[in-house]
Amino acid sequence: MKIDVFTLFPAWFDWFSGQRHVRNALELGHELSFTDLRAATPLKAGQVDDTPYGGGAGMVIRVDVVEAALRARYGVDPLELPTRRRMVALTAGGRRLDDALVAELAAEPELTLLCGRYEGFDERVHEHLASDVVSIGPYVLSGGELAAMVVCDAVIRKLPGTLGHEESALEESFSVALEGAPEYPHYTRPFEWRGHRVPEILLSGDHARVREWRHERSRERGAGGA
Ligand SMILES: C[S@@+](CC[C@H](N)C(=O)[O-])C[C@H]1O[C@@H](n2cnc3c(N)ncnc32)[C@H](O)[C@@H]1O
Repeated sequence: MKIDVFTLFPAWFDWFSGQRHVRNALELGHELSFTDLRAATPLKAGQVDDTPYGGGAGMVIRVDVVEAALRARYGVDPLELPTRRRMVALTAGGRRLDDALVAELAAEPELTLLCGRYEGFDERVHEHLASDVVSIGPYVLSGGELAAMVVCDAVIRKLPGTLGHEESALEESFSVALEGAPEYPHYTRPFEWRGHRVPEILLSGDHARVREWRHERSRERGAGGA
């Protein structure tokens, strides 16, 4: 899979790119690139934003700047891009990211993530240069970089071979295997900590009963019971 991130702050991703599962993905042949939205700006002095029509506080990232960055990277008319690949504009008010959307994105061969800043993108970026407008939650971040890392992280851990234990990605919170419910509780040593013991069933060695117990706990959590 090829993931391209467009951002005004590519250096934010230096740490992220060095993380184990991300390096695993790169070693497996997946690609992750970061393009500075400012690098191809057609405006003077590296300008990328402008004051909002209608007045108001803050600056808005210009559509022609995003267009120029996309054209420089892909060499085609950027209007064609949303029909060719998933072009995700990260926006607080967008479609909420969930496991189903992550799985959908992870199945794509190519993915582009557009990180906003300031007041966000000119609306024409969402309308004409993006295929999806995605939010990672109902709160406002200073920029799309952390949101892009959340999307990349969630997508990358779904790519076969990126995690140490493949099974851990199958039966986890919100997965099909758990019928969309949160994951069951996990315990490890010590068996007893400050009077709190690990549920006896987990030491029984009876895999079928352990499995049944886990799925029950997961269903309870899904119903808001734990
Ligand atoms: C300060 S925010 C803009 C907030 C915008 N004025 C609003 O009220 O929705 C700047 C950028 O951060 C990113 N961002 C902020 N919150 C986000 C969220 N919850 N999900 C995804 N991206 C977010 C977007 O790329 C956005 O363009």
